[in-house]
Amino acid sequence: MKNISLAIILMVAPTFAHAWPWSMDQGNQISIKPQESYDPANPGMYPFPSRSVPVPNTPTSSIEVKDKDAAFKLKNPVPITARSVDMGHRLFSIYCVPCHGKSGTGNGYVGQKLILQPWNLTSSNTIHSWNSPDYPDGYIFGMITFGGAVMPVYAIDLSPTERWEVIDYVRAVLQKRGIPAVASAAQKKK
Ligand code: HEC
Repeated sequence: MKNISLAIILMVAPTFAHAWPWSMDQGNQISIKPQESYDPANPGMYPFPSRSVPVPNTPTSSIEVKDKDAAFKLKNPVPITARSVDMGHRLFSIYCVPCHGKSGTGNGYVGQKLILQPWNLTSSNTIHSWNSPDYPDGYIFGMITFGGAVMPVYAIDLSPTERWEVIDYVRAVLQKRGIPAVASAAQKKK
């Protein structure tokens, strides 16, 4: 009797542990498993391309620029072109429109619900002129990188280049500066 119950326990226990070889038959297939190397000569985990895996709470801001004061002094390295404005428009639609609105005036659906209304990014801003030297591209870069009292940090979501592209869109379209002709842009560089 003792032996029979022991045998039953031995038979049942691994079932609960999913330890029988055939309990993994469906899982063990010839297809490549997640994170498995596809190259038999190089077994082990295949390294991810850099920046392809999001790691929460690792803003790049402290690496590229220390604080808002340092950001203020940065010169925009991405000249306004049709391409940069197009990229900026797409990113603005994803990251900024919910609060600042399609128009950029601060009337987005989310923005309307905030205690502090998002500020006006367009040339219709009556509080300050966007052409003033107190509001250079670096100021906007600082806002996107470090956020505001209510505005969230976007250093985690947008690479520095993407942030400058958003700024190009804000300048060229929302603040009506336009896209300079390629020739004049090239002349300025000389
Ligand atoms: C969750 C809502 C929200 C989102 C999304 C958001 N903002 Fe803001 N933004 C605000 C609020 C609120 C303010 C007012 C200032 C503050 O928060 O301290 C503001 C202020 C600003 C200012 C300062 C304007 C001024 O006149 O000084 C800039 C520039 C700005 N935002 C740019 C952006 C850009 C560019 C994006 C997209 C990458 C963005 N914001 C996304 C809410 C938001």
